[in-house]
Amino acid sequence: MSTIRLLLFTALLALALAYHLYSSSKMTNALFNSPIEQAITARRTYYGLTNKPLPISDADVQKIVEEAIKHTPSSFNTQTSRAVLVLGDKNKQLWDAIWAAQKELLPEAAQAGFKEKFDNAYSSGHGTVVFFEDAEGIKKFIDGSAAFAANIPTWSANTNGIAQYIVWSTLATHGIGANLQHYGQNVAPVQAAIQKFLGVPESWTLVAELPFGVAAGEPGYPGVPKAFNPIEDRVKVVA
Ligand SMILES: Cc1cc2nc3c(=O)[nH]c(=O)nc-3n(C[C@H](O)[C@H](O)[C@H](O)COP(=O)(O)O)c2cc1C
Repeated sequence: MSTIRLLLFTALLALALAYHLYSSSKMTNALFNSPIEQAITARRTYYGLTNKPLPISDADVQKIVEEAIKHTPSSFNTQTSRAVLVLGDKNKQLWDAIWAAQKELLPEAAQAGFKEKFDNAYSSGHGTVVFFEDAEGIKKFIDGSAAFAANIPTWSANTNGIAQYIVWSTLATHGIGANLQHYGQNVAPVQAAIQKFLGVPESWTLVAELPFGVAAGEPGYPGVPKAFNPIEDRVKVVA
């Protein structure tokens, strides 16, 4: 083969390889670049929250919570999830009420560390979405479905998690940071303080809080990049 032919062949090979790499990277991007996929990667845990003006209005945040609760799937469409959107001064008062109940249960040595989080990650934000499951609705479901009675509490937790995730991810797409907390979940006095402050029925069983606001810094803990376990250990394909 002459030198010119060899050069031409090598150039063509390089071109083909470059095209292959380019098109496969385009394909990966196209595959994980739809609005919902962007929301999935935008959602992170932000512990530093401020009450700087949000990029969207309170009415828009309310609409996001309403749409999330409305469209979240639930087993047999039982729609047992509930949410309360807490805004402005009420947000600070909510976290004061949670702190007053929670503090009583903490060893003195642990209080300062928790208080720092209350002050900078929860009450410092713009608002909080508090998630509940309706115990009455769940009981009715259990009473009417003996065959599924053992699964229903798990399905209730699953549907609530989906609702939390939709709100958290949707807020993220609007540039709003949030973190997920569970004060009062399975802790009667803290749950009672939250129910009382919000004026919700006792049958609304507390699941989680999602404080949100304009983030003060990077997601996660400072200087600790999010670690991902090898995906091949977690996802299997059987074909
Ligand atoms: C079901 C569930 C429960 C969680 N509970 C808490 C919690 O009680 N407190 C907290 O600070 N973060 C909580 N997190 C946040 C996780 O720690 C966080 O999502 C995880 O470390 C991954 O980080 P990322 O949200 O930035 O992707 C929870 C997350 C999930 C999905």
